[in-house]
Amino acid sequence: MVAARLLAAVVSEGQSLSRAAPPLLATLGDARDRAFAQACVYGVLRHYYSLSGRLEASLARPLRAKDADVRALLLCGLYQLEHMRTPPHAAVAASVDAVRGLRKTWAASLVNAVLRAATRSDPAPRGDIESRFEHPAWLVERLSRDWPEDWQAVLAANNAQPPLTLRVNRVRVTREQYLARLQTAGLAARAGKHAPSAVVLDTPVPVEDLPGFVAGDVSVQDEAAQLAAGLLDVPPGARVLDACAAPGGKSAHLLEEVAGNCQLVALDRDAERLADVAATLERLGLAAALACADAARPADWWDGRPFERILLDAPCSALGVVRRHPDIRFHRRASDIDALVAAQQALLNALWPLLAPGGKLLYATCSILPAENDAVVASLLETSADAECDELPAAWGRATPHGRQILPGEDGMDGFYYARLTRRATAP
Ligand SMILES: C[S@@+](CC[C@H](N)C(=O)[O-])C[C@H]1O[C@@H](n2cnc3c(N)ncnc32)[C@H](O)[C@@H]1O
Repeated sequence: MVAARLLAAVVSEGQSLSRAAPPLLATLGDARDRAFAQACVYGVLRHYYSLSGRLEASLARPLRAKDADVRALLLCGLYQLEHMRTPPHAAVAASVDAVRGLRKTWAASLVNAVLRAATRSDPAPRGDIESRFEHPAWLVERLSRDWPEDWQAVLAANNAQPPLTLRVNRVRVTREQYLARLQTAGLAARAGKHAPSAVVLDTPVPVEDLPGFVAGDVSVQDEAAQLAAGLLDVPPGARVLDACAAPGGKSAHLLEEVAGNCQLVALDRDAERLADVAATLERLGLAAALACADAARPADWWDGRPFERILLDAPCSALGVVRRHPDIRFHRRASDIDALVAAQQALLNALWPLLAPGGKLLYATCSILPAENDAVVASLLETSADAECDELPAAWGRATPHGRQILPGEDGMDGFYYARLTRRATAP
């Protein structure tokens, strides 16, 4: 029932999964029930288009909009039958029971009939593009245009379950020591391939089960995101700006890398999310100057002292992290992209003059669309004679005209883009 409510909130009310899930899942007292509901919701979202197609085909007439919760319940039931190892009779009985929890007893016979029919027949493969790839048609088309060689692998990676990747706080513990602690705790894990702080668990576990998590020995962060700190390469004592800092993963990491020895200004315009940065830094025993402001309007918050390093982890379509946030495929619209690109360009243009001569700005997104990545960097290079693009020699991702792109799933990582710009000390 909680799973159905959560799914309806995401699919029908347009709420974000990461915001809607914690309060609803917290209403379940038992950790196994929470894990089951979560697996069900994430699973339905990953297979939403094919499951919806199957459901629509089995209904005599579509359900009314106000019965989005019943529809969600049916999708959860179908998901359990098709993709989970739930015994069919248990999936049907639990779904019929849940109807009562939704106070819609009229739907019990409908849920029973649809799910029992589903137990008797295998799903017919559907030929439409959305069911085949479990993505909206516009996105399939866009990715096949942007990545003609790789789009099918990208879509498959988006539908797969991501690993749980940790960032070891190397001020407190070495990666080898932490891997040994995991082994002692019976948790199989391996070192990440590219980021020296990354550890990848074989099987995800709740963070409370991770040794030293509460004490700040590790944080959850994808390996691709952990590449930012190394690329930024903060000199000890430097003045650093993290312009879009919340929820604080990269701020924390770059502070860890210099053992807190830099003057970090962590900015975000979302006060609620900025509170997450404060909580993250507190757990890790780190400190930064936090400011709630629009990074694209430095006149509102900048004290006029240049920064030696700037991280612009720009707001983006997040199309590189669909595997972690399977609801992105519903919430994102083709028409969002132009507005995002405009915001990214505005941020980059506004922040560039804040960089000290000889300083470095790292532009990052968790997008895989060249329009949000290379094209944004190219526009700054065209207009700023003192901007120079660094070559990023790396064993990860692929070189693009101005930076490097990791596609989702490559070496187990999220889709991410990085470009590093140096401000020339004197104009050429
Ligand atoms: C990709 S997230 C940053 C993730 C963060 N760097 C981390 O590693 O945890 C982008 C953030 O940019 C913030 N943001 C969007 N537009 C902004 C603006 N004009 N000024 C400041 N922050 C902004 C959003 O609130 C969001 O928290």
